This record gives sequence, structure tokens and C-alpha cells, in this order.
Amino acid sequence: PTSFPCSRATNSNFAAAAGEMDSRGFDSTGREFSSATEMWAQEIGATASASASASEVPPGAAAPSNGDAGEEAGGEGKREEWYSKGIAYWQGVEASTEGVLGGYGCVNDADVKGSAAFLRPLLAERFGAVKRHLVALDCGSGIGRVTKNFLIKHFNEVDLVEPVAHFLEAARENLSSCMDVGHDTHKAANFYCIPLQDFTPEEGRYDVIWIQWCIGQLTDDDFISFFNRAKVGLKPDGFFVLKENIAKNGFVLDKEDNSVTRSDAYFRELFNKCGLYIHSIKVCISQNIKFSQTTNFSFHLSAT
Ligand SMILES: C[S@@+](CC[C@H](N)C(=O)[O-])C[C@H]1O[C@@H](n2cnc3c(N)ncnc32)[C@H](O)[C@@H]1O
Repeated sequence: PTSFPCSRATNSNFAAAAGEMDSRGFDSTGREFSSATEMWAQEIGATASASASASEVPPGAAAPSNGDAGEEAGGEGKREEWYSKGIAYWQGVEASTEGVLGGYGCVNDADVKGSAAFLRPLLAERFGAVKRHLVALDCGSGIGRVTKNFLIKHFNEVDLVEPVAHFLEAARENLSSCMDVGHDTHKAANFYCIPLQDFTPEEGRYDVIWIQWCIGQLTDDDFISFFNRAKVGLKPDGFFVLKENIAKNGFVLDKEDNSVTRSDAYFRELFNKCGLYIHSIKVCISQNIKFSQTTNFSFHLSAT
């Protein structure tokens, strides 16, 4: 993981026109890339990136994950290698808050408080008037930290999707009991052990799909196809929250866990390709913990 936010959350407007985008990036060894295209060519043998021709996949399409986005020779193998290296990293990590937060367990409380402050008004605005049964999906859930500390308090059911088996087992244990909130019962309902690039949610099940600190594991074309499939999993007035660290410019590739921290402009380019609209953004200022100056953003996104 590149870095985690360690300080207070503030509301702020953020302007980063795509035209201002500096597409250069670097990796954790200090190597510089002139563009994301160059980096992806090295990492997965792909000629396509967000700024080139990442494939658009229609809603409901099956997970492609087969490297068909203009890849050069060796693409399929390199893509598998990209994902297996990422998973291997997380398989070696202890199933604890400290583990899933890359040694920065100290950010947990601030993170949970910031998320609650971001989500509460959105829920009130969208679903406030009528009492309804709310269902969320926690993507790249790890040990269920986000669900346990926060999502389960707001949703009657939460499903978790996570590719690393020992994390998901810990989540199952952490979330084994139901929670009574007023007259309602809240519970973790389904545990899916699968990576996001291969996951297709059940149609129309979710009010909110929460994606936190895991989307950087996905290549650009898998990012796009995941969101296109995930849209179908939302109820008509459902929405996404994407909470991720943001690189100041271009991107930062972490060679340790094979993840990419993208800039705001890079994310916006991908959202455009997914047909997603940004409704609001909350910015949490971070410390420069590891490689670059990164900031933590929560994006509230929907397809309409
Ligand atoms: C930094 S941890 C964050 C966990 C959790 N979202 C949280 O905030 O506590 C990153 C998580 O992404 C998971 N992950 C790695 N590759 C993934 C993939 N391809 N799809 C979904 N999740 C992935 C890891 O196993 C790990 O649980």
C-alpha cells in the first residue's frame, strides 16, 4: 500500500481539469515512466491504458479479465502475474487492522469517522424519507474492518468480497453475530472469496457499493469493466463510494503489492470511460508516509 491518511478530514472543492493532467508516474524503486501506457506495457504487456483505448464493456457483460485490451505478446501471462503478485503480497500479511492498513492501524478511527461523516448525509438525502431495508457491498473488504466499524451500523445487510481467504475467514469471525440497531437487525450476509476483476454482483441488490483501498490492484481495463458490471448490481437509486489515495500527479506504482495510486485526473478519465458521474468528493489530507505526496479522497459516484 502506498500510504494511508493520517489526519483530519476536510470538505473541499477540488479542481483538476483533465487538460492539466501530468501523466508521468514513477514506481517505488524510483523509476520514472513518461505515461501510464508505458507503465502498463511494462507490467502487463498492454498497449492500452485509460489515456489510450481501454476497452468499454457494456453493463452486465461477463468479467473479461482476459487481457483483450490491445495487449502485446505475453499479455495474458503478464496480467496473471500482475494479479498473482498482488495476491501473494496480501497472503503474507497478518489478518489484523494493522496488517490491512500496511502498519498504519493508527488511521482506523479517523478513517471510520470520516467515512461516517461522508455517508450519513448521502443516505439521508437519497433514502431518508422512507424506511427501507438497506444493503451494501464492501469491496476488497480484507478482514471486514470497514463493515464492522461502520457499514454494518448503517445497512441491514452487508456482503463482503475479498480474494484473500485468510482475510475473509477473519471477517467471517469478526462479523459472526448480528447487531441490533433500534428494532432492526443488521448482519453480514454473504462472503465472496473472489477478486474484483472476476466478480459480478447480483443484479439490483445494492443501495451502496463501497470500494476502499483496493481499486489500485486493478488494471485500467479491469477497473472499467468492474464498474460497468457493478452498476448493474445497484438498485435504481443506488450509488458507489470509492475511497482511495490519490497521487499528486500521474500515478505511483507500488512494486511491493502491485498496486497503482492514481491521480485525480487519472480517476476522472476512468470514471468517464465507465459512464460514472461524480456527485461529491471529500478530501482527507494525508501525511507523506511512503513514496509520494498522496491525499485520500472519497468519491460519491453514480451512473445517473
Ligand atoms: C489496503 S487493504 C484494504 C482492506 C479494506 N478495504 C480496508 O480498508 O480495511 C487492500 C485489500 O485489497 C485486497 N485485494 C488485493 N487484490 C485485490 C483484487 N484484485 N480485488 C479485490 N481486492 C483485492 C487485499 O487482499 C486487501 O484485503
